[in-house]
Amino acid sequence: MEYKIALIRGDGIGPEVVNEAVGVLDAVAEKYGHKIQYVDVLLGGCATDAVGKSYPDGTAEKCKGCDAVLLGAVGGPKWGPDKPAEQRPETALLAIRKDLGLYANLRPATLRPAMAEASPLRKETAEKGIDLMMVRELTGGVYFGKRDRYETEDRGMECTDLMAYSEKEIERVGRRAFELARLRRKKVSSVDKANVLETSRLWRSVMHRLAEEYPDVQYEDVLVDNCAMQIVRDPGQFDVLVTENMFGDILSDEASMVTGSIGLLPSASIGDSAPGLYEPIHGSAPDIAGQDKANPIATILSTAMMFRYSFQRPEEADAIEKAVDAVLSDGWRTADIAKPGEKVVGTREMGRLIREQLKVL
Ligand code: IPM
Ligand code: MG
Repeated sequence: MEYKIALIRGDGIGPEVVNEAVGVLDAVAEKYGHKIQYVDVLLGGCATDAVGKSYPDGTAEKCKGCDAVLLGAVGGPKWGPDKPAEQRPETALLAIRKDLGLYANLRPATLRPAMAEASPLRKETAEKGIDLMMVRELTGGVYFGKRDRYETEDRGMECTDLMAYSEKEIERVGRRAFELARLRRKKVSSVDKANVLETSRLWRSVMHRLAEEYPDVQYEDVLVDNCAMQIVRDPGQFDVLVTENMFGDILSDEASMVTGSIGLLPSASIGDSAPGLYEPIHGSAPDIAGQDKANPIATILSTAMMFRYSFQRPEEADAIEKAVDAVLSDGWRTADIAKPGEKVVGTREMGRLIREQLKVL
């Protein structure tokens, strides 16, 4: 097959981790006889530095001309919240999600076998394993609602952020969650705050309707505060979690943390049509940028998700994941996940080890 992949290298450690992921993509292409063409796309703080805005004109169109987008990381203190919106990297992230229609954000939180000890959870909890998939609604809710800021007569400044959800928005992401659950352990936990929020009551009623369409999938409602608690108490109980944008933002950070290895976690953002966007869930780590210290595994595993969800090539996806597991089982670690006495390698060497494994698998 021939694939065209947009590369958003981004800021901080972004370019380094994307380099290693490209190396792995090339190795996969060679092994399976694919041809991959890359298109560089400028987005984030680096775009602000180069052209004055973080989301240059034509960015979405460039990406739409590709089969998938791989993003390293964007952001950094240089383009902080005090800067005008069009210069901030976060603005660009939200804009590209919206413009590409990426309404479903898949964030697996997996405790890989070789990493069981990394979890900060109690040993007996971690030993049960963690393999959950957070499905976060990504283009609606309070992130994209109407905002306002006005002076009042007696209460000083007042601001509002509107959280709105339509049935259509809820249903399409809900469907994704049920479909994914069918390929996994067949359980959906829908997270809301239906005891307080009207949007959550609508969310819940749409999910209940969907649950009837998927009788083979076990379904439950979980209140978001209880969910936050359950993720640290017993994350092994969850298979697919589905929730609105901001709850998903918060819970996905929590879920990634309990695996103890944020440098290993990939993500996929998908819509109804190509391209999907694939990126590590970690940030741009400007403090270690350019030092060959960053962990490229999350970005490399994001390419596995790309093969699975954008290219419908599970075999290639499995191969990438197996290569990563083999390297970890051999005891190789980047500094962020190393315990004293373990074999620490840099970004480039980690990439090379994974490519070598791919060849011999
Ligand atoms: C994420 C990030 C973004 C979000 C920020 C950087 C805008 O936290 O991808 O989870 O809140 O969606
Ligand atoms: Mg976040």
